[in-house]
Amino acid sequence: MKFLPLITEEEIKKRVAELSVEIKNDFAGKEPVFVGILNGCFPFLADLIRHLDINCNIDFMRLRSYGASTETTGVVEITAELQRSIVGRDVIVVEDIVDTGLTMAYIMENLKTRRPDNIKICVLLDKPARRLVDIKLDYVGFTIPDKFVVGYGLDYEERYRNLPFITVYEDEKPL
Ligand code: IMP
Ligand code: MG
Repeated sequence: MKFLPLITEEEIKKRVAELSVEIKNDFAGKEPVFVGILNGCFPFLADLIRHLDINCNIDFMRLRSYGASTETTGVVEITAELQRSIVGRDVIVVEDIVDTGLTMAYIMENLKTRRPDNIKICVLLDKPARRLVDIKLDYVGFTIPDKFVVGYGLDYEERYRNLPFITVYEDEKPL
């Protein structure tokens, strides 16, 4: 498979390392719990924590959102739950991309009811062009134009998560 990356493997590597340093500095002396949103977060979260030399915990949630494959309706259901309580914890939610923001708004609303001390959001990609709800993103890898992208965890109908870079998906195929 030969594709034209929008964001190369090297660029991702460099940026993820920078985010790790930022998080490390912000959470020095603390022990945050990373809440990864499956499936999209997995390469990003795996790379992010490997650079991070502070104590931390990792947990996951899986969501199902309804709607067409390149759009979200914001109607979300939790299909796999966190394994540990986050009461009183410093939480860092890790997502692949924030597009309309509806999914993240749902996640934040849900997690806040569990009484964590603090919740920060870390996303690999921010696509602000189609935002419907205002959400403060604390750590952003890259801001991208209004294109549907795949790779490095991001899928089109569960395909292309394995690409080591990010590429635009157009005309039923990655470019
Ligand atoms: P939102 O609720 O519109 O912010 O979209 C959130 C979800 O839609 C993400 O977690 C992704 O699973 C998916 N999504 C949005 N944009 C893209 C994209 O460009 N490529 C792949 N998935 C996307
Ligand atoms: Mg998806």
